Amino acid sequence: MTERISPRDDLRALEGYHSPQLDVVVRLNTNESPFAPPKDFVEEWTRSIAEESYNRYPDRAATELRTAIGKVFSQDRERVFAANGSNEVLQTILLTYGGTGRSCLVFEPTYALHSHIARIAGTTVTDGARTEDFLIDIESAVQQISDSRPAVTFVCSPNNPTGTIEPLSTIYALLAAVAEVGGLLVVDEAYGDFNDSSAISLLAEATPLVVVRTYSKVWSLAGLRLGYCIAPEWIISELDKVVLPYHLSIEKQLAGVLALSYAAEMEARVHALIEERERLTKDLRKLGAITVFPSGANFILFRVAGNAGAVWQAMVRQGVLIRDFSRWDRVEECLRVTVGTRAENDAMLSALRTALEEIGIA
Ligand SMILES: Cc1ncc(COP(=O)(O)O)c(C=O)c1O
Repeated sequence: MTERISPRDDLRALEGYHSPQLDVVVRLNTNESPFAPPKDFVEEWTRSIAEESYNRYPDRAATELRTAIGKVFSQDRERVFAANGSNEVLQTILLTYGGTGRSCLVFEPTYALHSHIARIAGTTVTDGARTEDFLIDIESAVQQISDSRPAVTFVCSPNNPTGTIEPLSTIYALLAAVAEVGGLLVVDEAYGDFNDSSAISLLAEATPLVVVRTYSKVWSLAGLRLGYCIAPEWIISELDKVVLPYHLSIEKQLAGVLALSYAAEMEARVHALIEERERLTKDLRKLGAITVFPSGANFILFRVAGNAGAVWQAMVRQGVLIRDFSRWDRVEECLRVTVGTRAENDAMLSALRTALEEIGIA
């Protein structure tokens, strides 16, 4: 019997990324857009795909795509890096600036992939403090950066899963602390368009700041797998060395450029979701027996005054899937719901009401 090869020692205890998918009617668990992208966009895109030469590699530098993204934020294309979803952007950042002998700082509870990818890249993960209302505890964070000198510090704003928006003053203070120790600040703005705050205004050539965004949420294109970041040129040129060549297919680059010309349609979708988020927040609060946290994203976190896991199960039995965070540190007994269409949100509210009654919490 031959011996089976084992994964790297530091990866043996690693668990895969878990976000259970169940075959239910109402799926409000992964913060996707409930709206399809504009029909005209899909038609125009598929037409343009047919005209390309697939015996050739795609443009390695994704020049048109980077130029088009840069234009949206009044930035040169040299400050733009694009990849297969913002997850690949995050991975490239960690492969470049993390690694053995280096650490990163995250503020749990936050997007699980920050620490997960960091570990895969061999980076030590340290955890910072949040206040009761889930904001980053800035005094303690600055102290921690100064003491542990992380290579990469992650801020997620709005934060997944809490929905919290960090004030720009916090980003600014973290940036100063990170610059002091020769580190990098990564602000993940996957949900950045669902509110008015963005760290992009703090970008400057000398600042060690990367702002990460995605087509998955606002652009209704989670299935496309396209994300990007804006950062000073000296950071982007390092990411370009690390990422695999030709990683963005011809179709993807075309879609990324074309989608940006449908800004008005996308804005209408964002606007509709923000309105629904506010309506849903109010209706959830009327239920009683739950605490609803304010959100600047396309999802809402709430805490159940009882067994949230049982409530989640009771909702699944009614064909409504939301995300169960009840066993996560600092968000114990919490559930997170993605804002869907009005009909989906009504179905969710009704299932939640029934579940609370069934479990005897209401
Ligand atoms: C905070 C955050 N960042 C990044 C991502 C990944 O997005 P993408 O689909 O662009 O890989 C997600 C997805 O849910 C997210 O919540």
